[in-house]
Amino acid sequence: MNIHNPLPNHERDEPVYTPPGGPPQTDRIPAAVYEQMGEENITRFTHAFYTRLGQSSIAHMFPKSEKNLMRAADKSAAMFVFLFGGPHAYQQRYGQPMLRARHIPFVIDEPARQEWLRCYRETLDEASEKFNMPNEHIDAVWKFISDFSTWMVNAQTPGTPK
Ligand code: HEM
Repeated sequence: MNIHNPLPNHERDEPVYTPPGGPPQTDRIPAAVYEQMGEENITRFTHAFYTRLGQSSIAHMFPKSEKNLMRAADKSAAMFVFLFGGPHAYQQRYGQPMLRARHIPFVIDEPARQEWLRCYRETLDEASEKFNMPNEHIDAVWKFISDFSTWMVNAQTPGTPK
């Protein structure tokens, strides 16, 4: 159980929504991103992203204290090391990703995804200058992340037809 958002699956008010079409098929991010950034810059990038999440309209989903927020960021950073073409850092430290399953305790609708993506986009926009992300691959990172994030949506947006 996640002590920051202790909502057991069976106590959700909303039924779990599954995006039609299943996990999106999207191109991998070129390994050049990991090769140029390395784990240190990817971790700094993810900390900057989580700092934005901590100030966003979905901040309630994330740990409140700076220390725990950055702990959560470190976990995500290990996943980004892998997604950017590096070693299986997340899998080695935390086991199977099962990312959709790990997000089920949080109610993620399309507006929540858009806010998450806004934080990601703003961090990407400074990533070449601050975190040594190769400029020529920023579009590929954005495409992968925006496509893949559709698979984390697990709640119907209020007011939209079922
Ligand atoms: C669609 C919008 C998304 C929202 C609102 C969201 C929200 C969250 C939240 C609330 C957590 C838990 C933080 C904590 O540890 O307290 C989390 C964990 C995580 N998220 Fe997301 N997420 C989204 C999309 C994504 C995407 C697209 C990825 C990967 C590309 C991702 C990767 C991760 C990882 C690796 C973790 C840590 C899982 C664990 O080991 O517990 N998330 N996310």
